[in-house]
Amino acid sequence: MKILITGGCGFIGSNFVRYWRKKYPEDEIVVLDKLTYAGHKENLSGIEHKFIQGDICDPSVVAGAMQGADVVVHFAAESHVDRSIIGPGVFIRTNVIGTHVLLEEALRQKIKLFHHVSTDEVFGSLPLDKSELRFNETTNYSPSSPYSASKASSDHLVRAYYRTFGLPITITNTSNNYGPYQDPEKLIPRFVTNLIEGKKVPLMGNGENVRDWCYVEDHCSAMDLVITGALKDQKIIGETFCVGGESEKSNIEITNILLEIFEKDNSWIEKIQHRLGHDERYAIDSSKIKKMLGWEPGNKLEDRLAETVQWYKDNEWWWKPLKEGRPVIDPDVQLERVSKV
Ligand SMILES: NC(=O)c1ccc[n+]([C@@H]2O[C@H](COP(=O)([O-])OP(=O)(O)OC[C@H]3O[C@@H](n4cnc5c(N)ncnc54)[C@H](O)[C@@H]3O)[C@@H](O)[C@H]2O)c1
Repeated sequence: MKILITGGCGFIGSNFVRYWRKKYPEDEIVVLDKLTYAGHKENLSGIEHKFIQGDICDPSVVAGAMQGADVVVHFAAESHVDRSIIGPGVFIRTNVIGTHVLLEEALRQKIKLFHHVSTDEVFGSLPLDKSELRFNETTNYSPSSPYSASKASSDHLVRAYYRTFGLPITITNTSNNYGPYQDPEKLIPRFVTNLIEGKKVPLMGNGENVRDWCYVEDHCSAMDLVITGALKDQKIIGETFCVGGESEKSNIEITNILLEIFEKDNSWIEKIQHRLGHDERYAIDSSKIKKMLGWEPGNKLEDRLAETVQWYKDNEWWWKPLKEGRPVIDPDVQLERVSKV
């Protein structure tokens, strides 16, 4: 089988390429990636694949990359909420227009399956005081940030290409991922790398916001079940699956686990203001994928976090150059933009 993976040099994409290569050594893997600030060829060093550097918004690049592919797995996106508050334009371009270009080509080339990777952020925010509420496949879309709005638009387009044109698609909406090769701008890698460097961790508000943390490899195994399931069983075509880590933690709880791993106290926390439009809580009900496809998340969060910390300790060569000279995107920068608009 030939599989085209867009955004395969980013965090989840590169973990997925590594996962797929190991599990399906006979498959041909093509990676299409623009190599933005978030994409690195080194993430795939030693992994057999064909690499094409290019933009998913460019129809001729996409046509060439998709040539002969059976399956497309679409990760490529602008993915950082804080960046979307400062500059939404590139999010609309890549996440909406880029997805449209891919869908058009997938239709033209009669691809067997187009798997779209999306987020739980499309559903908006749950209240902190109603812990019984969780997102599922029937939850209405209510995105808060330019990032989640652009991902919501792409989900709608993917579904529209299924309903209108019969393009065989599947979608996964997943909660916050963590694990190796995640950009040091995102919460867990930023906190871990700061602690390795002997710097404080910047916590928004009192750290009360809750996320449902999913280990990246568990996310990969969920996508594997959806993709291979859909190729075998027509009933899965057109379906959406919510995938959560079953590890709901507030940001202060995550911070405390990390501080414990580093044997540091809470004087290492630096409180900063909330991001604009900061969603309070995300929580996912994964019963559909568990029941229909037998998916289960793996080890518990504390163990996975310890492994992730160890990976960042062992791979300073990877993240140090990414942090150097890059401006920090904190809420005060977002407010500055708003005051200018
Ligand atoms: N990280 C999470 O916690 C999370 C959770 C749920 C869903 N998702 C979704 O999973 C996907 C991957 O997320 P990630 O965290 O790995 O993102 P990432 O930012 O680490 O990687 C994105 C990749 O896409 C590439 N890319 C960006 N614009 C491109 C373009 N125009 N053309 C071609 N390539 C381009 C980048 O170079 C990079 O390699 C995204 O679609 C994201 O919305 C992420």
